[in-house]
Amino acid sequence: MAQNKTPSLLIRGGHIIDPASRIDGPMDLLLRDGQVAEIAPPNKIRGNAEGKFDARGLIVAPGFIDLHVHLREPGQSHKETIATGTAAAAAGGFTSVCCMPNTSPVVDSPEWVHWIRQPERGALVNVFPIAAATHHSKGAVLTDFRSLQEAGAVAVTDDGKPILDEAVMREALRTGAQLNLPVIQHAEDTRLTAHCSMNEGPTSFRLGLRGMTVAAEAEVVDRDVQLAQMTGGRFHVAHLSTAEALKPVRRGKRAKVRVTCEITPHHFTLIDENVGDYNTDFKMNPPLRSAFDREAILVALADGTVDAIATDHAPHALHEKQVEFERAPFGVTGLETALGLAITQLHRDHKLPLARIVELFTAGPARVLDLRGRGTLARGSFADVTIFDPKKRWIFDAAKSRSKSRNTPFDGWPLTGRVISTIVAGKVVHREG
Ligand code: DOR
Ligand code: ZN
Repeated sequence: MAQNKTPSLLIRGGHIIDPASRIDGPMDLLLRDGQVAEIAPPNKIRGNAEGKFDARGLIVAPGFIDLHVHLREPGQSHKETIATGTAAAAAGGFTSVCCMPNTSPVVDSPEWVHWIRQPERGALVNVFPIAAATHHSKGAVLTDFRSLQEAGAVAVTDDGKPILDEAVMREALRTGAQLNLPVIQHAEDTRLTAHCSMNEGPTSFRLGLRGMTVAAEAEVVDRDVQLAQMTGGRFHVAHLSTAEALKPVRRGKRAKVRVTCEITPHHFTLIDENVGDYNTDFKMNPPLRSAFDREAILVALADGTVDAIATDHAPHALHEKQVEFERAPFGVTGLETALGLAITQLHRDHKLPLARIVELFTAGPARVLDLRGRGTLARGSFADVTIFDPKKRWIFDAAKSRSKSRNTPFDGWPLTGRVISTIVAGKVVHREG
């Protein structure tokens, strides 16, 4: 590792939750040279640290990892930049984000993967690029997975669109298997969802909008779990949103297929009725689903079926969202509200243990993409730490967001649980207040 000039930092008095190391108790933590130097019971760390952090009353966790973020560079910097998106990530407690390739141009070459990782981009947290699975994400011709991986891509996907063609998806999983590279699917049968702008159900009927069916998601997941089984490939379901799609994931996991999935905070919090009267800040893809789907998602988050919470942070400019519902782009921001929503909805209202929530933000996503030395505070791992107050009540004010965009359904929401500090490679990149 390169020489790290960041001063050493002792975080004391906190309650460490590190599910990967099965730690859940009062502990101190020493960060030095970009690594976790020591983790020990209170007051047992000897020797001097250059800096001290008083974590009394706070949870100290491995740095959060977001598997699904749209940073919009190259090409769409009016929505977000790598600098502004990672500033929002830091404020939300994320020390690592994986960015999606549906930019302009699409990230389908090693040159663009390199470009994203250059220091000139001004990233405040670790950025792991995910490259396109097919040229221009058109779903026809596979990209060169090996050279993309060598350039630093941690997975491939055509997110925003599915890899719909079965032969192409099979080949992607087969090639990915040889390289141990996960293939991430945006599971949507677009032959069934053309011109749809929300979930199919009583609300779409009331609003007179064409609705996406549950089957349009679940059938793609079902097919791809079978393809993963046939090929031995690593298959990850992005933003899973329906009860029906959880079935093939469960079946695959039982059969030891390499399948993983993520859930967004908006899908475990909201349902299609919340779209109200054509509010475009509630329009995203996959759409908000029924109360039945949300209940199934809550069960799956608790029982271990779900591997990660991922935001699908998808910033869009105000003028782009201020149009008729059917014409508005899909997507909502999410980096700064993820932890507050998880604690409020999952821990406070549904009694999910804090340790499980931390796992869904750390060890879970690290495992999905094999991010070695991340998602844990074991000695020798990267000095990425998220410190939060699980009891703090606050109100999310979108106007104060670090993101360039404001398209959130949670503006003005009272939340319980707030990020206090975010530490990347031993350096404080966010401090509340
Ligand atoms: O809501 C979404 N927004 N879903 C997608 O699949 C794409 C994303 C975006 O890029 O805005
Ligand atoms: Zn998607």
